[in-house]
Amino acid sequence: MEKAFPTVLSVLCMSVSVEPWGRASSGESVDLFTICDEITVKVSNYGGTITSIRAPDRGGVLNEVVLGFDAIDGYLGSPFYHGATIGRYANRIGGGRITVDGEEFLLPLNDGVNHLHGGFHGLDKRVWSPEIIDDTLQLSYLSRDGEEGYSGNLKVSVTFRVIGDRLEIDYQATTDKPTVVNLTNHAYFNLGGGETILDHLLWLDADSYSPVDESLIPIGAHQNVRDTPFDFTAPTRVGARINDPDNQLDLGNGYDHNFVLNQIGNPQIILTEPSSGRVLEISTNMPGVQLYTGNFLDGSDVGRDEPMGFRSGLCLETQYFPDSPNKPDYPSTLLRPGEKYIEKTVYRFTVTN
Ligand code: GLA
Repeated sequence: MEKAFPTVLSVLCMSVSVEPWGRASSGESVDLFTICDEITVKVSNYGGTITSIRAPDRGGVLNEVVLGFDAIDGYLGSPFYHGATIGRYANRIGGGRITVDGEEFLLPLNDGVNHLHGGFHGLDKRVWSPEIIDDTLQLSYLSRDGEEGYSGNLKVSVTFRVIGDRLEIDYQATTDKPTVVNLTNHAYFNLGGGETILDHLLWLDADSYSPVDESLIPIGAHQNVRDTPFDFTAPTRVGARINDPDNQLDLGNGYDHNFVLNQIGNPQIILTEPSSGRVLEISTNMPGVQLYTGNFLDGSDVGRDEPMGFRSGLCLETQYFPDSPNKPDYPSTLLRPGEKYIEKTVYRFTVTN
């Protein structure tokens, strides 16, 4: 009798299941995969997009913790990269110019004077080949030489696995010509379902961040967070200083900045939503994280329940630093033939009282 409950649960919650989900703009049909254990995650092979994560609150009630749409149409029409896998180069490349082994490449300028999130048709808008391998969803995509201006045939694979209270995302890529790679996920978290994320508490194991110019490209040198609104080295309300008079906050219209992870301790990022008690802990082996407080969200996207308004979700995009190809002092994002890009980010959902 005592054993019956877990058995029933495991029947209800197969580790990876699949359903048809509609068509991408290209006409290709796409699927929606449900991966579950203590949390339930939905991922589509359209853009490698996380459409839903349901995690328990302190009373055990499962609810949505990311912004998203139930139907694919919402994703096709949105400029906001909801939950998507971002590449080939997550974040901005200044002037869309990169030089690889002395050869210059011009990437499409889809963000004013800059290249953002892999261009007009980045990995977020591609249909990936799915494969279920045991309890893991593997999505693969071949980005051809020249796609969105980048060099080399880049073979990318991203796996999604749920174990207990953790979602693990593994990124891998190989190339046949030298190129740059920086992959991330663009989920907007809102752990409590409130109108904004301003009451979430954030802790970042980051003693410095990357100040930006007016086009949001890092100026180069990192700045110590001490005595600035960018100090999250103790858990702090996201909204506590977001409207402070501060030139960097003005440029981003809030937080839209790279933080340099100290690389000590594990996790390096903890987000807490006091009313539900939900806690998200993020661990990564990437050197940085973009804290983006949904400052461009304007209510034009209507998600599962309601319009996604200004600052209704926040992104914690684990990444190599923005514009690294043009910043020799930043950790390199160069990938050469014979090398393997391997990165991992783990999201753990727990509760606090
Ligand atoms: C990133 C950028 C933001 C914005 C969003 C998409 O997180 O840093 O400036 O472009 O993506 O809306």
